[in-house]
Amino acid sequence: MGIVYLNGEFIPKERAMISVDDRGFIFGDGIYEVVRVIDARTFEWGAHAERLTRGLAGLRINFGARDVSRLSGVCERLVRDNALTEGEATVYLQITRGAAPRTHHFPPADTAPTVYANATKFIVPLAQRENGVAAITFPDFRWGRCDLKTVNLLGAVLARQAAAEVGAYEAILLKDGVMTEGAATNAFAVIEGTIRTYPLSNYILPGITRKVIVELIAELGLSLAIDPVTQRELGGVDELFLTGTTTDVTPVVTLDGRPVGNGKPGPLARMLQEALTARMYATAGAARR
Ligand code: PDD
Repeated sequence: MGIVYLNGEFIPKERAMISVDDRGFIFGDGIYEVVRVIDARTFEWGAHAERLTRGLAGLRINFGARDVSRLSGVCERLVRDNALTEGEATVYLQITRGAAPRTHHFPPADTAPTVYANATKFIVPLAQRENGVAAITFPDFRWGRCDLKTVNLLGAVLARQAAAEVGAYEAILLKDGVMTEGAATNAFAVIEGTIRTYPLSNYILPGITRKVIVELIAELGLSLAIDPVTQRELGGVDELFLTGTTTDVTPVVTLDGRPVGNGKPGPLARMLQEALTARMYATAGAARR
């Protein structure tokens, strides 16, 4: 079952127990991260640590940058203890405000946050990357702080379930007539040669992969506009693609059952897919497989 980290201890998963009073369970009062690991090296750890620190500060959970930076050692040890030092893995980290009798307001200041992490093998879904995926559109009824990666994921859960029920991979979220992001990915469209995506704001998660893709777009000399794609435009885009830690760059080839562009993964998505893979393996120092 594997070894997990819980509140300072590395223990078998079946022995990892948290209180029913934990505010993560009761209120969804916590922050999480998913980090990609290739050949025992974390990809973009610094950016993940920064987002985690910002999220915890946003929720006013008492777990600062120094505590977060120590979690990189936890990730390394989990990867080792679970024999994941070769190939692909992901580490999941979650910090909640801790366990205390239920009050909506914060518990006593000495309540220790609950800190949990696990590492699992990641099998890259190559067929999805290669052939693209189906997506649906779905209303974005999430709260107004989507920039915080909280464990309160009901908007994403309901959107992804609606997608799963029609055999689609992702739900593209629409708010006030524009595409914000995917339920668990950032979303980009290509319109007349320009790549478009929603601006960083409280309405989307500042994806780490999104950040890398924006860098790669500049490096490749491609045209980028940080400008929302409207629902009307979405029906006629040349390409649509998703980005995320476990999604990399995944082309969307049908939206609500209709083909996107010519119904095949587009050239810009392909180019960025290649560039991202090269960047990930260069960072890992591993030979490309
Ligand atoms: N999801 N937007 C949302 C709403 C997300 O939940 C995610 C990540 C992303 C992409 O962010 P990043 O590139 O940092 O992974 C965008 C994670 C992987 C998850 O919930 O499992």
